[in-house]
Formats: sequence, structure tokens, C-alpha cells
Amino acid sequence: MPAIYDKIGNGYNATRRADSRIVDRIIALLDLPQGSRIIDIGAGTGSYARALADSGYEMTALEPSTVMRDQAATDSPISWVAGAAESLPFADCSFDGAILILCIHHFSNMAAAASEIRRVVHSGPVVIFSYDPDAVELPWLFHYFPSFRDQIRSSFPSFSAICSQFDGGDSISATPFLLPHDLADGFAGAAWRYPERYLEQEFRDGTSAFRQLDPQLREKGLEALRHDLESGAWDARFGEIRLLQEYDHGYTFITIKGEQSAAPNRMG
Ligand SMILES: C[S@@+](CC[C@H](N)C(=O)[O-])C[C@H]1O[C@@H](n2cnc3c(N)ncnc32)[C@H](O)[C@@H]1O
Repeated sequence: MPAIYDKIGNGYNATRRADSRIVDRIIALLDLPQGSRIIDIGAGTGSYARALADSGYEMTALEPSTVMRDQAATDSPISWVAGAAESLPFADCSFDGAILILCIHHFSNMAAAASEIRRVVHSGPVVIFSYDPDAVELPWLFHYFPSFRDQIRSSFPSFSAICSQFDGGDSISATPFLLPHDLADGFAGAAWRYPERYLEQEFRDGTSAFRQLDPQLREKGLEALRHDLESGAWDARFGEIRLLQEYDHGYTFITIKGEQSAAPNRMG
């Protein structure tokens, strides 16, 4: 089966770049010394792997899509490997930790991926950045594109579903990530304060949510959004959001640590 991003991944770097606040959070949650070996699973074009390599980690990027790998910067110290999370082409305990950024909703088998991740990082930390399908708040975006709700529920594993895939002895925590208004990474919820951005095809094309949306529903939602922005109806109903610096859109970090997770001392 062709990798999904071989169909929808062209032009990804135009709007998708590592955001420094997300990078800082990943590093804090990994809690590993510089020099640690980290696997970035579903690395895309490698912007987060690159940011971690620049922060002193020894990075390996695993990515199934040729289209995505071909867009990776060629001047970085990252080791690139073709492959999928469900069958990792690495020996047991090859890494000290793993990161998975906005990719688990594309996995065909989360249980197989969890078992493979545990095998290659043993008890090391696994940091997942994803969308919480149980998030209570309904962002304004869903008012125009209501099918996103079903899309999210059917593709993003819930916190409890993720917990159930890892070992009962692991400690697992979830922390919401409030989206700053000026995110560098243009994922689907990133422009929460700037509704006009959703009218830009380049922005929409950087997100699998819009790429996979039924074209008729997409046009219907865009038409309604365009109309409401022009008439002032959007600002009358949702405009207070323009005053916020950050917003809980449902994005969450999940950190899984094995029982014997102990930070290796690679500096000393
Ligand atoms: C939204 S992109 C995120 C890429 C990167 N992590 C980032 O944040 O820029 C999702 C990525 O997951 C990858 N992916 C899809 N199915 C996968 C699988 N089964 N195993 C590993 N990666 C997968 C896609 O090819 C794509 O590059």
C-alpha cells in the first residue's frame, strides 16, 4: 500500500516547520541528557528531528513516505530510515527515547506500533504529541467543518486507548498543550486566532485534515466561513478569541516512561 503522505505530502515544508515551544516541551518531557539516541517516528520532512539534533541529541528519523523524506534538508546530521512504526527496522534497545509528533492518527495498528516502540527504546521515555479526541471544548473550526469531529474520533486514539497499548508497569501522563497564537507549525488547529488563514489553499494543503476532507464538505465550509468573515458574523460570534494569546484546541502531550527508565549519562 502506498504511504498516505506520498499522495498528500508535496509542499509540506511551505507551512510546516518545527515550533520552538513544542521543541522545548519535547526536550523537557524526554528529560534525557544531550547525546542520547532518539528515534523520531513518523518524522515527516524532519523539522523536529533537526531541531533536536541542533540541541545536541543523536537523531534517527523514521518515515514511510518517499515524498516526505525527499523534502528533508540534506545538510543535517540526522540518520534517515524508511519504514513504519508497526515494524521498526532496528534491534532491541537501539534508542534511549522516542518522539512521535502528530503522526499516530495515521498508524494502521497502534498496538503493533506500541509494542515495537517499547522493543526499540526498552524502558526509555516515549513522547507523543497528538490530538485528544475527548477534548471537551469544540473549537470554532468544527462549526464550519463538523465532519472534523468524526474524523478526529475515528483516527486519533484516546488517552485511555494509548495507555492500554503500553505495559501496565509504565507511567503515563497527559498534559494539554495550549496553542500559542503565533505557531510556526501550521497544523490543522494552528490558525485558531486567524480564521482568514483557512481560506488560503497553501495553509489547508499542509494539513491532512483538509487534504482528506470530502471536497463538497470542504467547499461548503469554506463558503460559509468566507461569508461570515465578510459579513462580520464570525467576529460577532467567535471574535473574542482574537484577544487570546494561547488557546486549548485539544492538542496534548502524552509521555510514557518504563519502570526502569533512568536517564543515561552520555556526557560523563
Ligand atoms: C502530519 S505528518 C507529521 C510529520 C512530522 N512528525 C512533523 O511533525 O512535521 C504525519 C507523518 O506520519 C507519517 N506516517 C504515516 N503512517 C505512518 C506509520 N505507520 N509509521 C510511521 N509514520 C507514519 C506520514 O508519512 C507523515 O510524514
